[in-house]
Amino acid sequence: MSNAIKYEKIGDIAVLTAQNPPVNALGVDVRKGLLAGIQQAEDDGAKAVLIYGDGRTYFAGADIREFGKPMLDPGLPDLCNRIEASPLIVVSSMHGTALGGGLEVALSSHYRIAVPSAKMGLPEVHLGILPGAGGTQRLPRVAGTESALDMITSGRPIKAADALAKGIIDRVTEGEPREIGLAYAQELLDAGAARRAVGDMPAPEAIDFDARYETLLKKGRGQLSPATAMRAVQAACEADSFEAGIKRERELFMELMNSDQRLGMVHAFFSERAVSKLPELKGVTPRALADIGVIGGGTMGAGIATAALLSGLTVTMLEMTDEAAAAAKGRILGNLQGAVKRGKISADLFETLTNQALTLATDYTSLANADLVVEAVFEEMSVKKIVFTQLDEVCKPGAILATNTSYLDVNEIAACTKRPEDVIGLHFFSPAHVMKLLEVVVADKTSIDVVATGFALGKMLNKISVRAGVCDGFIGNRILSTYRACADHMIMDGASPYQIDKALTGFGFAMGPFAVADLAGLDIGWASRKRLAPTRDARERVPSFPDKLCEDGHFGQKTGKGYYVYEAGKRGGTPNPDVPALIEANRAELEITPRDFTDAEITRRYMCAMVNEAAKVVGEGIAQRPLDVDMTLLFGYGFPRYRGGPLKWADIEGLDGILADIMTYAKEDDYFWQPAPLLQQLVAEGRTFDDLNRENS
Ligand code: CAA
Repeated sequence: MSNAIKYEKIGDIAVLTAQNPPVNALGVDVRKGLLAGIQQAEDDGAKAVLIYGDGRTYFAGADIREFGKPMLDPGLPDLCNRIEASPLIVVSSMHGTALGGGLEVALSSHYRIAVPSAKMGLPEVHLGILPGAGGTQRLPRVAGTESALDMITSGRPIKAADALAKGIIDRVTEGEPREIGLAYAQELLDAGAARRAVGDMPAPEAIDFDARYETLLKKGRGQLSPATAMRAVQAACEADSFEAGIKRERELFMELMNSDQRLGMVHAFFSERAVSKLPELKGVTPRALADIGVIGGGTMGAGIATAALLSGLTVTMLEMTDEAAAAAKGRILGNLQGAVKRGKISADLFETLTNQALTLATDYTSLANADLVVEAVFEEMSVKKIVFTQLDEVCKPGAILATNTSYLDVNEIAACTKRPEDVIGLHFFSPAHVMKLLEVVVADKTSIDVVATGFALGKMLNKISVRAGVCDGFIGNRILSTYRACADHMIMDGASPYQIDKALTGFGFAMGPFAVADLAGLDIGWASRKRLAPTRDARERVPSFPDKLCEDGHFGQKTGKGYYVYEAGKRGGTPNPDVPALIEANRAELEITPRDFTDAEITRRYMCAMVNEAAKVVGEGIAQRPLDVDMTLLFGYGFPRYRGGPLKWADIEGLDGILADIMTYAKEDDYFWQPAPLLQQLVAEGRTFDDLNRENS
């Protein structure tokens, strides 16, 4: 017996206890232990077997760290078949999260019981694979085709009560998983209950699978796993036998297991967890956070205040006038009402948050007790300096002074206070109560416990926090400026904004760069171009067509017109018919003869620009690891999760090919396409960005 599974015999019941913390993942030792345990139970003359997990959960799935390595026996599908085939009555008792291979082990058991707080699901599609140990065959047999498809293709776990209603489990009982499991197994033995194998149940009903396949592919923006998982469920309905269905599931599983999308999604899974685990923060205690101040109640400030309130913090919102404060309150209340509508908070909690946890103020002295203040005022250095000078005067010693600037120099902001060690950038993304990304921008003098507190705040607010250094645009907006410039260059040379947006949504981006610009507001880029104009290198290609749109008062969605025209009440926009003429005028002015671009060339150039700038950001230490860039793009910029992030994508594509393309593009424009030294170094040494992740985590 392996150490990961403890075996005991209590009366007629053999008890198999999983002991593989933290989440009882079904690694090879656990699989060996379960297989041996079933055999020993049969050899010992037991009449029933109870399977449950020690610690916080039943099995939370296969061990993801084994993916991509040679499969070690016994494999999970064989183990599940062996459990199901046992002549003894096998009972699984679930608590915590019975996910993936975990739920598949439970479905191979003959009876299933769970505590009310247990959750169960088949989240494999989020790892780029499908349930590969009979889940796609057994779940539809117990829950019906539609319920099973919903769980398998969404990957969403459900609660025990829901699982009971769907027939996935037999009973929900309060108590310890061991005690309730033992009592249930004994009850079944006393009642003379029969062994009950899901594999023996009739095949579930078929639906129109071809139509559903197309819908799933479209919804996933090219993500293959949900649609492929659906084909496995189709086999459960249509194959000649349960065994034939299992065989088809295995083929489809292996197809996905060997795909680039699986590499991308597993990278995203581990990077999401690694991103806030910085070696420099080990053992550093963050400062206490209870009272938060927010300065500026526009969309961004109100979103930050909402996020803070929702995570149990007390918020003082500072505005300049009573009218502005009332408007800020209206925005925050609107956000919180949205949370009530979506069932995220109760009406009672809404009352408490708005009446007790939120204070509106117009005087800086009201921030005297705040543990941390975030300023979200106008993006202008002189305004930021006035705010920080005032904060320095009123805030208590040890309070953290944070700026939500998107581009400005946090060192310069810190220098106008007498406590630069307490100053940090906390760059939220709008709407701040919805978007998952938080860039924690560390200035030269920021003390390490202030950095730790930035990450602690991110965790409280349920954000993915990424450490960034100071430069124009930090990690995300700096890379965005570069790939957006690449898109502008392609437009000047002959592509259209609409072809570019289409090519990039085809790559898997949630939106193309021009639809994004319309959403964010074209005035933001305009202000940034004007700010950078005085120091701009003469060799830089800067188009005039985006400025022309702004000069005409078109700022995108908020004015109803930008690259697209937006009609009230309609989702999305239609191409703005005035834009082609602006572009043509720009080309004529620069004497450019336009040429055709294929979608593949557009995507390749755009991605090369993104990867090259990302490599510079890592090489300069603005991001500490490639995975920090990947998570920034994934959680703040709509990068397709199934590609893992730009630098994971680059590793998969091959760094040498990307560098070669950059060198080719540099023949047209050697100012823009200066290859990143880090990229050149990695290619020369035959290493990858993932090697850097491993070395620096
Ligand atoms: N394999 C390996 N490691 C795992 C793991 C798994 N299935 N699930 C979690 N871990 C690790 C995490 O990486 C983390 O490690 P570190 O502490 O070193 O960072 C640790 O366990 C704790 O995980 P979390 O920090 O995520 O803890 P949590 O309490 O927030 O969440 C959880 C727990 C809900 C189980 C979450 O970890 C999770 O969703 N895990 C993945 C579950 C999953 O996808 N299972 C399906 C696997 S695929 C499968 O089973 C294929 C098949 O059909 C054959």
